Amino acid sequence: MKYTVDGSLCTGHGRCYTVAPELYRPDDEGYNLLRDDAVEVPPGAEASARRGARSCPERAIGLDG
Ligand code: F3S
Repeated sequence: MKYTVDGSLCTGHGRCYTVAPELYRPDDEGYNLLRDDAVEVPPGAEASARRGARSCPERAIGLDG
């Protein structure tokens, strides 16, 4: 599974890294650190990836795989 944060949609709500800090991280301004790149989800972290994606009010996090 991979996730991609759409940098044009992320407005820094911060819910992703609040509900799934083991996977998502903030940058210095509170946006999701890794934007506009497909990021591999480590084995076992799929539930965290989904939880974070569901939490985003902007629907900025897409999952594939
Ligand atoms: Fe951005 Fe959504 Fe997280 S707006 S900081 S991806 S909750």
